[in-house]
Amino acid sequence: MKNKEKLIIFDTTLRDGEQSPGASMTKDEKIRIAKALEKMRVDVIEAGFPIASPGDFESVKAVADTITESRVCGLARSLDRDIDRAGEALKGAAAARIHTFLATSPIHMQEKLRMTPDEVIENAARSVKRARNLVDDVEFSPEDAGRSDPDFLCRVIEAVIKAGARTINIPDTVGYNVPDQFGKLIAYLIENTPNSDQAIFSVHCHNDLGLAVANSLSAVLNGARQVECTINGLGERAGNAALEEVVMAVRTRQDIFPCDTDLDTTQIVPCSRLVSGITGFPVQPNKAIVGANAFAHESGIHQDGVLKKRETYEIMRAQDVGWTENRLVLGKHSGRNAFRTRLQELGIEFDSEEELNAAFGRFKELADKKHEIYDDDLQALVTDTNLEAENEQIKLISMRAHVETGEIPQAQAIIWFKGKEIATNSTGAGPVDAIFKAIDKVVKCDAELLLYSVNNITNGTDAIGDVTVRLRHDGQIMNGQGSDTDIVVASAKAYINALNKALKPKERAHPQARV
Ligand code: KIV
Ligand code: ZN
Repeated sequence: MKNKEKLIIFDTTLRDGEQSPGASMTKDEKIRIAKALEKMRVDVIEAGFPIASPGDFESVKAVADTITESRVCGLARSLDRDIDRAGEALKGAAAARIHTFLATSPIHMQEKLRMTPDEVIENAARSVKRARNLVDDVEFSPEDAGRSDPDFLCRVIEAVIKAGARTINIPDTVGYNVPDQFGKLIAYLIENTPNSDQAIFSVHCHNDLGLAVANSLSAVLNGARQVECTINGLGERAGNAALEEVVMAVRTRQDIFPCDTDLDTTQIVPCSRLVSGITGFPVQPNKAIVGANAFAHESGIHQDGVLKKRETYEIMRAQDVGWTENRLVLGKHSGRNAFRTRLQELGIEFDSEEELNAAFGRFKELADKKHEIYDDDLQALVTDTNLEAENEQIKLISMRAHVETGEIPQAQAIIWFKGKEIATNSTGAGPVDAIFKAIDKVVKCDAELLLYSVNNITNGTDAIGDVTVRLRHDGQIMNGQGSDTDIVVASAKAYINALNKALKPKERAHPQARV
């Protein structure tokens, strides 16, 4: 990064990303993602909203206690109890930040907060002071800044900088802004806030108009030196600015940007896969940087050009963002050491020997069915092992499905539920419908099925099928996943994984709801 200013990357996959309906993550999943972000050298990891629930508090605390190389941040509304809870969760962090926010747009102040502009300024400054008594790094966001009066924003920003905020984050909360105007807003705020030189300006853009990355980059060209983003653009509604797109745009166009990040971009694709695997949000094939087709040259003319000289059609190298060949690695006779070594090369580590043994057992079962095992199979297998461990209340012990031309499809299963094994069976429109109905007879949960989708992880008819099931229960949305070479088994696993989430007690506050 010669003679370049630093662009700070603030990842909010574990906080704003998790606010995406169905993307909620367990503590262990958050730790796995946080470790991957740390490995990628992300500067700040926003680990969650500690006041939301005891589970959210524990997750932020666990990330803070684990991560040593990145700064760990907790979100807090401008409320004393939120700030104190965030401070508590972050106590064990090597480097901590509290991110507090209060809305500044006329509509939010009048309709949501019912506060006058002066009350907002006073409240914001008081919260920042309180947070500064707990940690030495405080960020303030004027929520819905993109629809706020710029001169009022300058007054708010001046007050919170005086109170000790060292990062001022300008959110386009509802994704309303467009690049030229948003860039000018950032330049205006930096120019017209008297003490702006004492803080780093940051941006946090939502993608409702598909402009989150463009707005973020325009802000960077106008003086922002922190971008808040998420892996795969996950986030509330249409999502947040995608980390991989922001980072690679800045890296690829160093002729234009006066700054660069410290990120190890080769970790981008592994991180994208990890987040997609954990949340069950697939990455569209034509997604920039991390989509399966992002570096695939199908047209003959393009391929010819690329073969002659790569730069004719490629502006980035696939290896630089972590695409590796989907290597044929292991088979039936591969031993435990070969299995462990390849997983380590893929950046997958186990917390205990028992977890490694469980995954190795599954690998042997898979190798009996599928002779050639690729990296992608290994990733799916490990995700599936972790998903199984997550299923606390309901487990699939065994199942069989029967389909025959002219006969009604049937399924039978043994399900572990409420501490005992229960046999069940049903008929259905097809084998998947039959096994879902058989499970329903045991679990009796009134969840509504919103989505059922199957993806092939590797090529071929012996490939692992990865199934996602999305349910709505008690007004909340949850995703379940399962993988297996038999897609009926994968479907049953995915349904059971989603039902386990549906049956967990959920008491969770949303950060943008004022209580
Ligand atoms: O979109 C938003 O305004 C937020 C804030 C909490 C920064 O997520
Ligand atoms: Zn947001």
